[in-house]
Amino acid sequence: MTRTIDLDQQARNILEMNDRGGYTIPTKGLYPYQWNWDSAFAALGFAQFDCARAWAELETLFSAQWPDGMVPHIVFHKADPGYYPGPDVWGGIGPIPSSGITQPPIAASMARLIYEKDRELGAARIRALFPKMRRWHSWFMRWRLDQGAVCVTHPWEAGRDNTPEWDGPMARIDPVDVGEYVRRDTQHVDGSMRPTKYDYDRYIWLVQMGRRLDWDQEKLLTENPFRVADPTMTFTLLRAQRDLLALGQMLDLDVTDLADEIEILEQGARTLWNPVLESFDARDVRNGDWANCVSNASFLCWYAGISSEGQTRQLQRVLDKVQFGVPSHDPESDKFDGRRYWRGPTWAVMNLLIGLGLEDMNHPLAGQVRNATKTLIEENGFSEYFDPMDGSAAGGQGFTWTAAVWLSWAGRS
Ligand code: GLC
Repeated sequence: MTRTIDLDQQARNILEMNDRGGYTIPTKGLYPYQWNWDSAFAALGFAQFDCARAWAELETLFSAQWPDGMVPHIVFHKADPGYYPGPDVWGGIGPIPSSGITQPPIAASMARLIYEKDRELGAARIRALFPKMRRWHSWFMRWRLDQGAVCVTHPWEAGRDNTPEWDGPMARIDPVDVGEYVRRDTQHVDGSMRPTKYDYDRYIWLVQMGRRLDWDQEKLLTENPFRVADPTMTFTLLRAQRDLLALGQMLDLDVTDLADEIEILEQGARTLWNPVLESFDARDVRNGDWANCVSNASFLCWYAGISSEGQTRQLQRVLDKVQFGVPSHDPESDKFDGRRYWRGPTWAVMNLLIGLGLEDMNHPLAGQVRNATKTLIEENGFSEYFDPMDGSAAGGQGFTWTAAVWLSWAGRS
């Protein structure tokens, strides 16, 4: 018991330590700006003890929304020369310096959970945010659909930077003329836990291409070789749209077209079922190839309100192979690498989304996912991610989103 109280306090301390006034950085040094989905998780964490601060987090994020509706993946509020690629490399065109790509749209879903903690305070805040959230979601619907599934145009967009799902499309990129650059991430964290130079050259090449095209979605649609229909984006947008519809109905807001959009996304989500792999999977839009990967994003189907017996079998199999699930990549695959970022490690935030989905659907594996996450944090702290075999901490430490997962879900009795 004492230990749990201690951890609650530690988690709050982390949020407060990473609070930069209106927005929260993921962790000092490695990630010194506001990240899109990290912020939405941070807001959920703050909501456990300060709902007003939680709303401020989301409001600051949406203050960076671009004229076309996109909400960027990084917002560079204050310059930090120690970070690469910074605002001058990205050349974002929003009201605040930012990156030119987005991240999984979980903000509306977190907003609904925050609203439910204090409806009186939340009603006014939702009313102001609602049209902005709708514009962001409409931007996805306008620019990013393939057969109703949602596409990413850069590996960083799915928030799962170096997952094996991108290996095929990344191999098609020849990063000519990418030039010399100095990576900063490997100055903070051991290189063995980060993406390789092969990956990084291609990340930067894609950024340079986006900038050259002024982040014009129409041009990117034809020119960008990297376009992958992805379970992370598809399932999170589907859930976010459902949550917006629910909020809109509760607060009597304009929900025109939402039900139709949800139907399109539901059908799109089903197109991500790979019948040979027997799992939800990523699909390379440029050549129609499956990634053939069971990843932690495959298990977001329940979060999106889609039940699947086949995916349940996969979850049981994968959980049986590791001590601390849910691993980011299939532990039986030869591409599994237990400490390299999104190629194997367990991420508490993904466990939270997967767990919320399982709990909503009264799934028999819900308790196992939550307990594994609880034990991980109790025994190994608030690190960025964890080795699924022995639970050891990996990546950055004092991580905002892991603290938020503890406060909002894993550490609650
Ligand atoms: C890494 C993660 C991404 C996260 C960011 C900040 O790039 O892959 O999901 O948003 O770090 O924590």
